[in-house]
Amino acid sequence: MATYDPLEHSMQDFRVLPGVGLLERTQPFYDWQQARREAGYWTLGRSLSGGPLHRCAGHNDAGVAFKGVNFASQDYLGLSTHPDVKAAAIEAAQRFGVHSAGSPALVGNSELSLALEQQLAAFVQMPYVTLYPTGWAAGFGVNKALVRPTDHVVMDQLAHACLQEGARAATGNVHLFTHNDLTSLHQQLRELRRRNPEVGILVVTESLFSMDSDTPDLAATQGIAHEFQATLLVDAAHDLGCLGADGLGHSGALGMVGKVDVLMGSFSKTFASNGGFVACQARSVKEYLRYYSSPHTFSNALSPIQAAVVGRCLKIVQSAEGRALRGKLMDNILDLRSKLHAAGRQTYGDPSPIVCVKIGNERTARKVSKALPRLGVIANVVEFPAVARNEARVRLQVMASHQPADIKTLVWQLVKAYELAHQV
Ligand SMILES: Cc1ncc(COP(=O)(O)O)c(C=O)c1O
Repeated sequence: MATYDPLEHSMQDFRVLPGVGLLERTQPFYDWQQARREAGYWTLGRSLSGGPLHRCAGHNDAGVAFKGVNFASQDYLGLSTHPDVKAAAIEAAQRFGVHSAGSPALVGNSELSLALEQQLAAFVQMPYVTLYPTGWAAGFGVNKALVRPTDHVVMDQLAHACLQEGARAATGNVHLFTHNDLTSLHQQLRELRRRNPEVGILVVTESLFSMDSDTPDLAATQGIAHEFQATLLVDAAHDLGCLGADGLGHSGALGMVGKVDVLMGSFSKTFASNGGFVACQARSVKEYLRYYSSPHTFSNALSPIQAAVVGRCLKIVQSAEGRALRGKLMDNILDLRSKLHAAGRQTYGDPSPIVCVKIGNERTARKVSKALPRLGVIANVVEFPAVARNEARVRLQVMASHQPADIKTLVWQLVKAYELAHQV
C-alpha cells in the first residue's frame, strides 16, 4: 500500500493509470482517497437521510453523521418536496406503474412522456423536443449523434463533462476556446473553416456556467457560429426554469428564446427529477436523434413517474407560484452574495443559484471542506481538476426554500471555516 499526504495530489493524478492489471491499478487511487478519508479531507460521496431541504442530515462515506444548513443540493425552486409534485408522482405510479420498460425508440414512451415533450417544446418555443434519461445523457448524446469523425467541435473550455466527453467520443477534432471569449471563438472558427471548407462544425456553450456563474452573449455566439456555417448548441441545465421572470433563464433575458439552433437541458436542477432533453428546430433533427443518439435510442425511456414529475414542475414554473419562487430564490441569492461580500469573501460571476466563494489553493480547500460539516454547514468544495489549479472554491447552491437564518448561519460559519483552515 502506497502512503500519501492527504493534502497533496489531485484526482487528475489517477486518471491515467500505469500497469496491465485494469483492476489492480485502481489501488493507488484508493490509497490516496483513504489517506484523505482518514484525515477528514474526503467530503465527496455523502448521502442524505431525508429530502434535499434547506436544513438536512446525513452521513459521509465513512458513516460519520452530519447535520446543518444545506447549500449542497440543487433543488433550486424546492419542487422536489412540493405536495403537487409528489401527488403527480403517486398518481402516475397508480395509473402506469413505476417503470417504462422500454427504449423510446421501441415502446418505451408513455402518454406522459409524449405530453412532456410537447409541454417543453411550448415552454422553450422550439418545435421539437427529445427526452433523455439524464441531462448528462442529453449532452453526450446530442454531440455524439450530430458530429462525425471528420467534423469539428469548438467548445467553451469550461463546458460540462457530458459535452466534452460526447464531443470526444464523436471526433478527435475537439477545440476549446477561451471561456466566454468570443474573439477566441471567432479566431478558431475562421481558421478551422479556412482549412476545412467541407466539414460540419458544432459550437458548444452553456447559458449558465456551473462553476463560474457567468453567461456568454448567446446572440453574438450564434452570430459568429453562423458566419462560419457552424451550428450552436447551448446547455441550459442550470438556468432554465429558475431564472428570469418567466423562468426562461438567460435565453429569455438575452432575447434568444426559441432562436438557438439546438438547446439542451437537465431536469435535475429545477425540475425535481433525473432526465434531460434536447430541443431543436426541425423534425428531421428530432427523428435523427431518436435513432442515432445512443443514450436516447439504446436506453430505457424516462419512467412515467419522472415524466409526470417534470410535467408538474413545468406547470408550477410557468405559474404565478413559480414566479414567486423565482423571486424568493433571487432574494436569497442576493442576500447571500451581499452578506458574503460584507464578510470580506469574494464570489465568482453573476447572481444565480450557484454562488462560488473563492478559496485559492487545494490544501486550504481541503481544510475548509473538513471544517464545514463540523460547523453545521453542508456545502461542496471544488478543486482542480474540476476548476483550474489554485482556484479552489466553496460552491454553494441556493434554493428558494432557504430562510434568512440559514444564510446568516452559513456566512458566519464559512468565515469561521476559513479562519480554522488558516490556523492548521
Ligand atoms: C451544465 C450541465 N450540463 C449537464 C449536466 C448533467 O445533468 P444531469 O445531472 O441531469 O445528468 C450538469 C449536471 O451537473 C450540468 O451542470
